[in-house]
Amino acid sequence: MALADDIARVLFTEAQIQDRIRAMAAQISRDYAATAPLLVSVLKGALYFMADLSRAITIPITIDFMAITSYGDETASTGAVRLIKDLDEKITGRHVLLVEDIIDTGLTADYLLRTLRARDPASLNICTLLDKAARRIVDTLPIQYRGFEVPDEFVVGYGLDHRQLYRNLPFIGVLKPEVVSASR
Ligand code: IMP
Repeated sequence: MALADDIARVLFTEAQIQDRIRAMAAQISRDYAATAPLLVSVLKGALYFMADLSRAITIPITIDFMAITSYGDETASTGAVRLIKDLDEKITGRHVLLVEDIIDTGLTADYLLRTLRARDPASLNICTLLDKAARRIVDTLPIQYRGFEVPDEFVVGYGLDHRQLYRNLPFIGVLKPEVVSASR
């Protein structure tokens, strides 16, 4: 049985995702032309987005990664996260762009921003592929670039997982309800 059989509906095809990423990368290349920004992303969800976005950017950049685990259940964020891998690079005085797969309640991004801001970067903004704005709790996030708005549904693919599966789907879709409920 193929992984894609568990998908009820495709929200964004591979071509739509790549088109949008090229447009975002062009904008970032213009906005940060003089600054050699540091792109910071969070494993594992943002892995594919970071890989494609960074390759589409045409100015000098550096990249770095953090890894976190969140407490709480799989489909709802509590905002309680633990840093399990910190950045390798110092960010003081750097122009930092936090590259996120999805911002849902915003609690995770808010935690990460507070951690990074304490290190005095020259600037700190967010680039997120997906924005589930209807569920936002923290509404002060500096989201400078957003790929797509998504409805209040659990989405998988292109890095996003359900119980660690589906990350390798090249598109983004909504899981069949029976797949979600069967694993509860
Ligand atoms: P937030 O703290 O509520 O903004 O949630 C952020 C994290 O929750 C994301 O980085 C994802 O790991 C996860 N998440 C939120 N919504 C979804 C979804 O629809 N599919 C997969 N993961 C999600």
